Amino acid sequence: MHSPTRGLGRVMVFLAAALASASLAVPEGWGEEGVQYGQVGTDVTLSCAGARAGSPVQWRREGAAALPEGSAIHQGALVLPHASLAAAGTYSCHGEDGSLLHAVSLRLGHLPGVPFVSCRASDYENFSCSWTSSLETFLPTRYITTYRKKSLTGEEKRRNKSGHVGPCLQDPSRAGTCTVHRSEFWSSYRLNITEVNPLGSSFRLLDITMQAIIKPDPPEGLVVEPVPLAPRRLYVSWKYPASWPKEPHFQLRFRLQYRPVIHRSWSVVETVNLSEVITDAFAGLEHVVQVSAKDFLDAGNWSEWSAEARATPVRDPAATASEGTTTDASLESLAEEPSQAPNPEPINRSDPLEKMAILVSLGIFAFFILAAVLVITILIWLRVRKHSKDETKPHNFLVAATHLKALPRTQILP
Ligand SMILES: *[C@@H]1O[C@H](CO)[C@@H](O)[C@H](O)[C@H]1NC(C)=O
Ligand SMILES: *[C@@H]1O[C@H](CO)[C@@H](O)[C@H](O)[C@H]1NC(C)=O
Repeated sequence: MHSPTRGLGRVMVFLAAALASASLAVPEGWGEEGVQYGQVGTDVTLSCAGARAGSPVQWRREGAAALPEGSAIHQGALVLPHASLAAAGTYSCHGEDGSLLHAVSLRLGHLPGVPFVSCRASDYENFSCSWTSSLETFLPTRYITTYRKKSLTGEEKRRNKSGHVGPCLQDPSRAGTCTVHRSEFWSSYRLNITEVNPLGSSFRLLDITMQAIIKPDPPEGLVVEPVPLAPRRLYVSWKYPASWPKEPHFQLRFRLQYRPVIHRSWSVVETVNLSEVITDAFAGLEHVVQVSAKDFLDAGNWSEWSAEARATPVRDPAATASEGTTTDASLESLAEEPSQAPNPEPINRSDPLEKMAILVSLGIFAFFILAAVLVITILIWLRVRKHSKDETKPHNFLVAATHLKALPRTQILP
C-alpha cells in the first residue's frame, strides 16, 4: 500500500531538522605528509620551506610546462589567485642552481555542506541515523555524530540538568550510518551530525522521538495454505521480525494484502494476530499475499511489505462435481478461465463472478437492513407499550388514592 502516512512520517523527520548551521574551524590531523589543502575560489599560497630569506626561488608544477595562469611568486611563496579545481597538483620550489628545496601536493575542494540526515528505529531499543553529504567537496571527509537526550523524566532532570550527551556510534562496516543504543522510547533526542574536512566543518541538528521514527522490519516466515473443503478460504500465518524484541508491552499489529495473481488491486485486512483466514478468496485461482507490521499503539510507520507467498484455494467441490458436464458454466470454470487465457486483461472475464458476489452481498445487506428495521420497530413498539402502561399506572393510583381519600368521607358522612 502506498499509504500517505509513511511519506508524512518522513516529511516530519525532515521538518524536525529545524536547526542547521555551519561553523568554521580547521581540524588538525588529516595525517598526510606533504599535502596542503586549499579552498576553490580563494587565493592559495604555497610557501617554500627550504628557501633562505631573500634568495630567489623557482616554482615548477609536476607534469606541466607552466604554472597556472595568474600565479605569482611573493617572497619565495607561490600565490594562486582564485584557485580553480584544475590548479590542484604537485608543486615544487627550487634554488637558483635548480636543486629541489621543497615539494607540496596541493588538493583543492570545497567546505563541507550541511549533510542530509534521516533516522529510523527498527525496534524500540536502538535507532539509527544515516546521512549523505549535500555537496561534493573533493576532499577527505569524516563525520562526528553525537546526540543529546532532551526530554528527561522528572527524576533525571533533578539529577542532571544538562541532559545526557553521548556518541551515535559509527560502524565501519556500514558507512554513512550511526546507532544510538538503548534509547528510551519516550524521550526525544537531538542528533548532531557534523561533516568535517580539512577546510572546516558543517553540522545538522535533527530532533527525533522514537515514537515518530519507529518502523519495524517486515514480518518473517509468511506461509499461505488452502483450507480443506473451503474453496474461498486461505489460511495465512507469519512471525514477528527477528529484530523486534518480544516484550509484552511492545507488540506489533499487522496488515495483510492479497489478490489473485491475475488481478491488480489488493484487498487489505488488519489484524493483531499472527495468523488470519482470508474468507473471500477466489476458488481455484492462485493468490499472492504479503504482510506488514506496525507498532501496536500506532507509533511510527508501517514496515515495508514482507516477501510474497502464494497459494491456491481448493476447488469448489460442487463445481468439481459438475465439471464432467461440459455444458455447465459453473463459477469454477469462470474463475479458472482467465488464468488459462493469454489475454492480459482477465478482469472483464471474471465480471459475472464479481456481479454474482455483489448481488449476494447486496442480498445479505438488504436482509440485515430489513432485520434491523424489524428489530427497531419491535423495540419501539415494546417501549411505547411499556410507556403507555407506565402512564396509565400512576393514573390508576391517582384514581385509587382519590377513592381512598374519598372513602373515609363517604364513610363518615352516612
Ligand atoms: C539494541 O542495542 C543493544 C546494545 O548494543 C543490544 O544488546 C540489543 O540487542 C539491541 N536491540 C535490538 C533489538 O537489536
Ligand atoms: C555539533 O557537533 C560539532 C562537533 O562535535 C560541534 O562543533 C558543534 O558545536 C555541535 N553543535 C551543537 C549545536 O551542539
